[in-house]
Amino acid sequence: MNRKIKAWQARRIWIIGASSGIGAETARLLLELGARVALSARNSDGMKAIASDDCNCNALIMPLDITRHEELITARDRRLERWGGIDLVLVVAGTYNKMRADNFNLAVANNIVDTNLRGTLNCLDAVLPLLIKQGHGGLGIVASVAGLRGLPHALIYGPTKAALINLCESLYLDLRPRGISVYLINPGFVATPLTAGNDFPMPALISATTAAHELVRGIESGEFHIHFPRRFTNWLRLLRLLPYRWYFWLIHKVTGL
Ligand SMILES: NC(=O)c1ccc[n+]([C@@H]2O[C@H](COP(=O)([O-])OP(=O)(O)OC[C@H]3O[C@@H](n4cnc5c(N)ncnc54)[C@H](OP(=O)(O)O)[C@@H]3O)[C@@H](O)[C@H]2O)c1
Repeated sequence: MNRKIKAWQARRIWIIGASSGIGAETARLLLELGARVALSARNSDGMKAIASDDCNCNALIMPLDITRHEELITARDRRLERWGGIDLVLVVAGTYNKMRADNFNLAVANNIVDTNLRGTLNCLDAVLPLLIKQGHGGLGIVASVAGLRGLPHALIYGPTKAALINLCESLYLDLRPRGISVYLINPGFVATPLTAGNDFPMPALISATTAAHELVRGIESGEFHIHFPRRFTNWLRLLRLLPYRWYFWLIHKVTGL
């Protein structure tokens, strides 16, 4: 559905959300494969560790907060000055707080929306005009299988990810005819700082390294919907087809919630 990628050598990539977890491991992998990778997140420590392991000096650290539009614009311009165009932008940054109706917290809810949804829109504003002007390159957004249907504990996280899934579908329709690849990335459970506090069983949990390999493999193959691990995500995709009566019954039965 997208253009296949055969080699990463010297490709110019910007990963937003690269200081830990899936984004950090994807940055490591792409640097190993010879790409030039600009790393962005708020905390520099994780990004510095990745850059210090990169013997080719292909890593560029650009700290920013995705909720601050002006910081994204400054980073984009700095990266452009250094590398010219862009071959791939990956929006990985996201935040999660377990929330149900009986512990709804507006401040926490707003932070999830600001980071996961408005933050992604800030990224779009920074990179879309550039990608459209170039007429080539790719844009990948990490959503979640939690965005496929309503789930317990994901009262606000789920809706932000559902919005990103819908956003990617529309972006694909708008951008693919203009020569730009769009990737919707839906991980299942991945062991990262984001999930470290979960006190419920996480089926088919994979490492961030495995997630990064799956993500990169999906992009190389030109897939639009990159989801992993498939032994888990395929079940959730199937659940999407169930009528509400059956879906609610099944989720209650499986989670006890
Ligand atoms: N782990 C899972 O099971 C799972 C499943 C489905 C989807 N996902 C999604 O995968 C993505 C990566 O999550 P992860 O599991 O790898 O968790 P993680 O290790 O906590 O990574 C989150 C990344 O987002 C960055 N970030 C958070 N808030 C930010 C902000 N305001 N500005 C800039 N960067 C920010 C963090 O960096 P700083 O804190 O340094 O800013 C970090 O680099 C998220 O979008 C998450 O929703 C994860």
